[in-house]
Amino acid sequence: MADYSDILRHGFDEYREFINPAVAERAALAGEPLKVIRTEDGRIATAKSGWIEDLHGTQAFGHKPVPIVRAMQEYLESDAPSWYPARVNPFAGRLARRLAERTGYDNAFFGCTGSDAVEAALKLARALTKRPRLLALDGGYHGCSYGSVSLMSPGYLRDPFAPFVEGAAHLPFGDVDALRRALASEDVACVVVEPIQGEGGVRQLPRGYIDALCELTRKHGTLLVADEVQTGLGRAGLGFLASENWPRRPDVALLAKHLGGGLMPISAMLTRRELFESAYGAHFASGESHNTTMGFNALSAVASLAALELLTPELLQRVVDLGARFKTALQEALSSSPLVREVRGSGFMLGVALDSLDHPWLSFEHFGFESLEHKSVMAPLVCHRFYPRGYFAFSCGHDWSILRMQPRFNIPEERLFAIPEALRETIDYLEALG
Ligand SMILES: Cc1ncc(COP(=O)(O)O)c(C=O)c1O
Repeated sequence: MADYSDILRHGFDEYREFINPAVAERAALAGEPLKVIRTEDGRIATAKSGWIEDLHGTQAFGHKPVPIVRAMQEYLESDAPSWYPARVNPFAGRLARRLAERTGYDNAFFGCTGSDAVEAALKLARALTKRPRLLALDGGYHGCSYGSVSLMSPGYLRDPFAPFVEGAAHLPFGDVDALRRALASEDVACVVVEPIQGEGGVRQLPRGYIDALCELTRKHGTLLVADEVQTGLGRAGLGFLASENWPRRPDVALLAKHLGGGLMPISAMLTRRELFESAYGAHFASGESHNTTMGFNALSAVASLAALELLTPELLQRVVDLGARFKTALQEALSSSPLVREVRGSGFMLGVALDSLDHPWLSFEHFGFESLEHKSVMAPLVCHRFYPRGYFAFSCGHDWSILRMQPRFNIPEERLFAIPEALRETIDYLEALG
């Protein structure tokens, strides 16, 4: 076995020195289990901690899932190449076919990140409609490349990067009248929405808004793009895609996160063949006008094919059933806490909305972080106390009053149902300070 002890001893400090000191310092200040050095049975541990359940969600099958590792090992031991200079990669072809069988979308584009998939959707929409405007919703998070950051809800994740892509703008969340007015001008190429906003606070799109989106985008020739980077592949317990039960299938659906089994970076933009051909099919040059060098590599596709095999109907149903029971258990455990406003979300994509503590010290301002003055301290505080108990929960990026939990799909039941009581005790402790 390879010896990584030197990297695991010094690499964390090297990250701080050569990559991003602010991230390393924030993680240390927040008390995050930072120096994770091993994984077993899907969990992680530092040299000093016990086993930690990672509730971040990216590792939907647990850390280093054995079937994905095996598929990648077998592939690397074969004599098939990973990268195909003519670009016509058979492993990407097979993955696109499997995704078509699971989703009904018969055209795929592969990138490495969720942002790559968002960019592909924006460019498809412009190439197809020749229209200038690209719309998203307040509270949205679609990634950090220029097109995707232009759709980002205003705030610290977006503002430093102005000016943004021309034509990009936001609509108020859930406001049907504003949507109707915006689309009536028939200059909107696409509307990009998350079925449940993740960083926006685990906010589900209201049913009436979904109905209006489906109807109005069709009526006005605007592409409807479902950003399912968070909600897709079973995470939200609403099917393989959370948008699959909408009154009409979105024109485009985007996947990333655990598409590569948690081991390989891969994302997908899924659409209909007729849309792809209208946008890119005019001649050989236009067929290659939008591309990624490594998005179509075979190793990622192999990991992805193995991930799709893991995503059996039984596993997806487990997320639905356990997600509902887990949400109820959280509601019951937290119902009498004056700090808890609501438990929201579905499947294994849940959020706990927290009220502020009335205590002058418990604010970022008090500790001298003036730039964070308007941010809630609540979810970071709960996380801080929750880490030592063996749970890596996190705060929503746009709303730090929402604690977010996204368990792995194969978490043992007893570990899942130990969470509500541990969370209740953590919140009780903070409440006693108020
Ligand atoms: C809904 C959504 N879209 C897009 C992205 C961007 O994905 P990536 O960070 O892989 O670029 C994210 C990232 O968390 C996301 O939550």
